[in-house]
Parts: sequence; C-alpha cells; structure tokens
Amino acid sequence: MMSIHTELLLTRNEEEASEAIRRGADLLAAGKIVAFPTETVYGLGGNATDPAAVARIFEAKGRPTFDPLIVHIADRADLARVFSAVARADLRVDHLADALWPGPLTIVAPASDEIPELVRAGLPSVGVRLPDHDLAQALIRAAGVPIAAPSANLFGQLSPTSAAHVEAQLGGRIDALIVGGRARVGVESTVIALMPGEPARLLRPGGVPRERLALLLEPFGPLEGPAQTVTKGTALPAPGMTASHYAPRARVRIIDPASPDLRNLSRVALLAPDGATLARLDQVAAGLTVVARAALSEQLDPVRAASHLFELLHQLDEALRVDGDAHDTILTTPYPEPGLGAAIADRLQRASAER
Ligand code: TXA
Ligand code: MG
Repeated sequence: MMSIHTELLLTRNEEEASEAIRRGADLLAAGKIVAFPTETVYGLGGNATDPAAVARIFEAKGRPTFDPLIVHIADRADLARVFSAVARADLRVDHLADALWPGPLTIVAPASDEIPELVRAGLPSVGVRLPDHDLAQALIRAAGVPIAAPSANLFGQLSPTSAAHVEAQLGGRIDALIVGGRARVGVESTVIALMPGEPARLLRPGGVPRERLALLLEPFGPLEGPAQTVTKGTALPAPGMTASHYAPRARVRIIDPASPDLRNLSRVALLAPDGATLARLDQVAAGLTVVARAALSEQLDPVRAASHLFELLHQLDEALRVDGDAHDTILTTPYPEPGLGAAIADRLQRASAER
C-alpha cells in the first residue's frame, strides 16, 4: 500500500486535546482512519456507517480476512443507531450496559440496518462498546457517527497500549494518531454475545472478568463459553478466534517450571506472573543466555499484570531482536486464571501458538 502522512495529534494540555479531537473528528467524518487511545488498548477508528472507511481499516492493518469490528459509541442513546429494535428490547443488554458501561465490555447483538456488512463480516450481529476514556468519548461524540475500531496493530501482532506502539506498526499507513497516555486496562474488552432467545455466551475473555458477568446475568440464566480457540485453517466457532494472535516476533513458550521443556533454546527472555516465579525461571534458565527478564507484577496481581502485559511483551521482544534467530524465545509460565487472569492466560496462549 502507498505510504501516507500520519498526522500526530498531541494532547499534552486541554487546548491541544480539544484541537486534536476537532481535527480527528473532522478526519473521521471525511472517511479517514484515525488511531486513538481507549482504556483497554489503542483503537484504529473509522466511520462505522461508511464501508469505504471500514475497508481502509482492514487495509491498514493488513488483515487477510474480514473479522468483524467492534463499534464504539459515546452515549447510550447511540445504541439506537447500532443495535436493532430486537437487540434493544433485550433486558440483558440494558442490565449489562447499566452495570459495566462505560468500560471494557463489548456486547454482540443483532445489528441495525445502518451497520454495513463489512463491519459485521456478514454476520447479522454487531459488537458494540462504550469506552471508559475521555478522549475516546469526546472524539466519537465530535465525529457524530459510531466508530468502528479494532486494536491499532498490524494483523496478528501485539496490541498497542501506547501511542509509540501504534506509530511503530501503523505510522505511514493511517491518517492520524491521537497521542494519549498508556492504556490503563492493557487487554482488550471482554466480548459477550446476547442473541435473542439464546443463553449469553462469552466470546473473548478480556477486561471484565467472566465471574462478574456470570453474577450479573444470574437472573437471566447461565453464561456459556468461552468458545475454544482453534488453529489456523479450520472453521471459526466465533470470528477472530484464531489460536495465533497477539504475537510478538519472538517465539513464546509456556513451560512448567517443575518439568521445563528447554529443547532448542539458547537465547531467551523471561516473563513471569510474579517475582517468586521469576526467581524460579532464573534457576530453570541457568544454562541459557538470558537477555531480559520481567515479572508481570511483583505480587500476583492480575489488574497490574494486565496493564503491563503487552508493554512487557513489546520490551522483551525488542531485547531479543538482535538477529532473526529462530531460537530467540520468550519463556513464561501459565498465568492463573481467576478473574482478569483468564484474559492474560488467553493472550499468552495465543502468543505462544504455532504460526
Ligand atoms: O478493547 C477492545 O475491544 C479494542 C478497543 C480498541 O476497543 N478493540 C478490539 O477490536 O479489540 P478487535 O477488532 O481487535 O477485536 C474484535 C473482536 C473480533 O475479533 C471478534 O472476536 C469480536 O470482537 N466480535 C466483534 N463483532 C463480533 C460479532 N458480530 N460476532 C462475534 N464476535 C464479534
Ligand atoms: Mg485485535
């Protein structure tokens, strides 16, 4: 694709921020694509009602297939534009939105006629969320249209939790980037399907723990899922569920420190759930060349860990990148799964999947 000039829109003070929002919103309304911060990860936005803008998002990301995109709104009233009347009559939608919006929850439900096929990847449903981020909300509101936004990374690569990550991957491929701070949550939204007449189904673990959703939905019945991830080439039970995803360039291997598989390893970087496990990994890797090491949090703290996950994967990936040696590997251990830990375990599992 042709290289285009990417405008960097700074937000260091209120004046800059309102100018960035005005410029970003003008570009979005004109069918351009603009990356912006949210509380989960940076998103790459385009007018969700404009198929040409949506196509540009896929092109810039280099997505080989058309996964459905999440549509972002700034106000609950905008649900009328994105969901069908049937979806809006579903009491579960209101119940979850009341409790968890703005926030890292994406609700998949039947789409309105205004949402093009390309956003939905041909499905009758659309995923919608209201981000808990002032800049994101102001931008969407100023643009005056719902904004389709996948994570602002190249297809299959690490999700961006800082503007620098976005610039490194998408600079020259997108029209503008709103430079905000680090993404607070650090993993993508939880995606839940609420289809009429069907039980609620978790499609992707993320920023809202499964336990929280199960509790909120108790009056309406059980929560199903998450669907198993699948390997490349087989039919997808839910879109975007390919096993290999969120991957750094280095290989990622998840080992059991009690009986570690260290075959074919020479240079490694260590990534542990906590400080104590990092010390165990140090012992396990004693015979290898360790170029970098990090714990997701000192004590086991899934909230802190999630907010640092992609940042640390980026850093360890950089530390390993001296040559293209296939034996360059990030060594990690399974992340315990309660609460937000499930989203962390899921992202590490996908990062480690065979590519
Ligand atoms: O936190 C997030 O959700 C970020 C920020 C930018 O909001 N966005 C994000 O978008 O992660 P993306 O495109 O990387 O992930 C979209 C995923 C799809 O791959 C699929 O798993 C699910 O959301 N999804 C979206 N619409 C769907 C639909 N109609 N049916 C089933 N799954 C859907
Ligand atoms: Mg993504």
